[in-house]
Amino acid sequence: MTSQHGFFVTGTDTGVGKTAVALGLMHHLQVQGDRVAGMKPVASGCEPAPSGLRNADALQLLRQSSVAMEYALINPYAFAPAIAPHIAAQQAGVRIELDTILSAYAQIAGQVDRVVVEGVGGWQVPLNERDTLADLARKLELPVILVVGMRLGCLNHALLSAAAISHAGLQLAGWVANRLPPEPDCVEENINTLESRLSAPLLGIVPVLDTPGASETAEHLAV
Ligand SMILES: Nc1ncnc2c1ncn2[C@@H]1O[C@H](COP(=O)(O)OP(=O)(O)OP(=O)(O)O)[C@@H](O)[C@H]1O
Ligand SMILES: [Mg+2]
Repeated sequence: MTSQHGFFVTGTDTGVGKTAVALGLMHHLQVQGDRVAGMKPVASGCEPAPSGLRNADALQLLRQSSVAMEYALINPYAFAPAIAPHIAAQQAGVRIELDTILSAYAQIAGQVDRVVVEGVGGWQVPLNERDTLADLARKLELPVILVVGMRLGCLNHALLSAAAISHAGLQLAGWVANRLPPEPDCVEENINTLESRLSAPLLGIVPVLDTPGASETAEHLAV
């Protein structure tokens, strides 16, 4: 597996801005001249469409991709209920196989300069009875970007995630402070606290945006 071919975007939790930052990162890399594809290997919370289940995150990543890709390649595991992926898979009679994801990734990576892979939920989400998202990230050998949703509780989530990423032997390429509405008190102080405690660089502070689209988010990222 090629390393340094892209990024693995994880977050402190679900709903913290992984997709928003992944889209911004794709845009940022595209402006630098790279051909970029997005991938959401595992998605629960999908809607039925004529050609199969479709996930909103995967569709956005697909639209932002520089090269047209088959949906099933960028989202090999799609499940309807918005529940933990390994439970959704079990209910669908499917086992999430890391090798299937690795082979889809390799096919995507062969067509572009960079692949931005969005995780699901947080860092240590179970994917089957044995593997977690961390195992997938380790096999992909991609540098990790941690999106910290600046909410109350994020210091603990961010520090635990960074420790687990390092424990998995992966490089935390950096973290992004995403200022989500409604903002709690002391956001700046929390950002300063994380800056002093995380050894990885702060890649950007994304403010509360009216439209958190790819170009709007990209403006606040320095990768
Ligand atoms: N900086 C921001 N300003 C305003 N709204 C934001 C910002 N970042 C994200 N949002 C909004 O917050 C919601 C959650 O963001 P997003 O979907 O990117 O999170 P996620 O971590 O990818 O969630 P999931 O776990 O479902 O994949 C979305 O409605 C998004 O538009
Ligand atoms: Mg998302």
